[in-house]
Amino acid sequence: MKVLVIGGGGREHAICFKIAKSSRVEKIYCAPGNAGIAEIAECVPISTMEFEQLAEFAKEKKIDLTIVGMDEPLAAGIVDVFEQNGLRIFGPRKNAAVIESSKAFSKDLMKKYNIPTAAYEIFHKADEALSYLHTINYPVVLKADGLALGKGVLICNTLEEAIDGVNTLMLKKQFGTAGNTIVIEEFITGPEVSALCFCDGTTIKLMTSAQDHKRAKDNDEGLNTGGMGTFSPSPFYTKEIDEYCHTHIYQPTIDAMKKEGRSFIGVLFVGLMLTKDGPKVLEYNARFGDPETQVVLPRMKNDIVDVFEACIDGRLSDITLEFEENAAVCVVLASGGYPEHYEKGFPIHGLKHFKNKEGYYLFHAGTKEENGEVVTSGGRVLGVTALGKTLKQARANAYEATDWIHFEKQYMRHDIGKAIDEI
Ligand code: AMP
Ligand code: GLY
Repeated sequence: MKVLVIGGGGREHAICFKIAKSSRVEKIYCAPGNAGIAEIAECVPISTMEFEQLAEFAKEKKIDLTIVGMDEPLAAGIVDVFEQNGLRIFGPRKNAAVIESSKAFSKDLMKKYNIPTAAYEIFHKADEALSYLHTINYPVVLKADGLALGKGVLICNTLEEAIDGVNTLMLKKQFGTAGNTIVIEEFITGPEVSALCFCDGTTIKLMTSAQDHKRAKDNDEGLNTGGMGTFSPSPFYTKEIDEYCHTHIYQPTIDAMKKEGRSFIGVLFVGLMLTKDGPKVLEYNARFGDPETQVVLPRMKNDIVDVFEACIDGRLSDITLEFEENAAVCVVLASGGYPEHYEKGFPIHGLKHFKNKEGYYLFHAGTKEENGEVVTSGGRVLGVTALGKTLKQARANAYEATDWIHFEKQYMRHDIGKAIDEI
């Protein structure tokens, strides 16, 4: 089989790595890919939003299956374009990807189908949102309706902060049209868990649990980022919680989407908060998580191509997803200054230490090759993942491996997975 992967970050490197393990795959292409992906796939210089060109490429190369890693092309309908061209592709169509691309849609879906989530109101006009702010308790959470690279969520402790927030989202349009509509939501607390699930439109199956670390600095300080590290499984995510989530969240969500005429085929990533009143949905994503994928896929035993195909063909109920009885930790190596201003183009040293080291993986996120050398090309540069029998062991292994890599202005968090010591 020939497979095409769309995207070029750590998530797509982990997806390519897992596809490369399939005995059914003879060739992987990745658009646009990165310097790490180039070791296992042929990178193709087509942008992820040029659907017609991507479809032409897939036809020309006789690609059997395309996998989409990123949210933006899914939200803009890449799956619909490929299907119109008679091409096989794994991911939700535009009318189902809306579960991620509109928070107002997903909140209304949850309300309509009694899926547990924080209480909320939706506003299309700034003056109405501003008057509402005077009637509620604080803290409160403001969310831009549209895609905003995970940054359109503001937690406001006071009325003044919330007024500022509404102005930023709706009037100054810091996140562009994503802020035309906002959700104002009850502030809830508890451990957060990322639940990545395969879906075939009717059946939904959880892979395994993971936890992300979104803040830039140790002890969850600093700005929100795309994710500074992750671990899997989450010790908070017990068997009882899993059963509850399956019955009250996962299956009802997939049933609701089907009932709405928006059958969801692909990966549904449910962002959960385990509150004292039970698990609640913080958000849905219509794709694999990044960096969660970098700890979930190295633990997966199945041939992932079989699972992709079962989802597309509506046969997921025949598949038993299997994961190793171990743990994985991923520490992101970023470029100093991320998520704000950072420099690019620094040579990366030590990549060879990861060659043929069982249980250690180096996933490239922002790298490229320049004059025969691998250099940094993004804020999040590399994901260093290690396996271990326990989370503690996996964490020790991952941090040991971060020492093998050197580039100028290298930055990481030192407490990825540390909270698990306190359980
Ligand atoms: P989201 O993109 O909706 O997952 O939100 C980003 C982050 O904001 C989440 O990972 C939470 O840490 C936080 N957050 C979102 N919604 C709430 C809420 N209702 N209460 C407390 N924190 C929240
Ligand atoms: N790690 C969070 C996300 O992929 O959105």
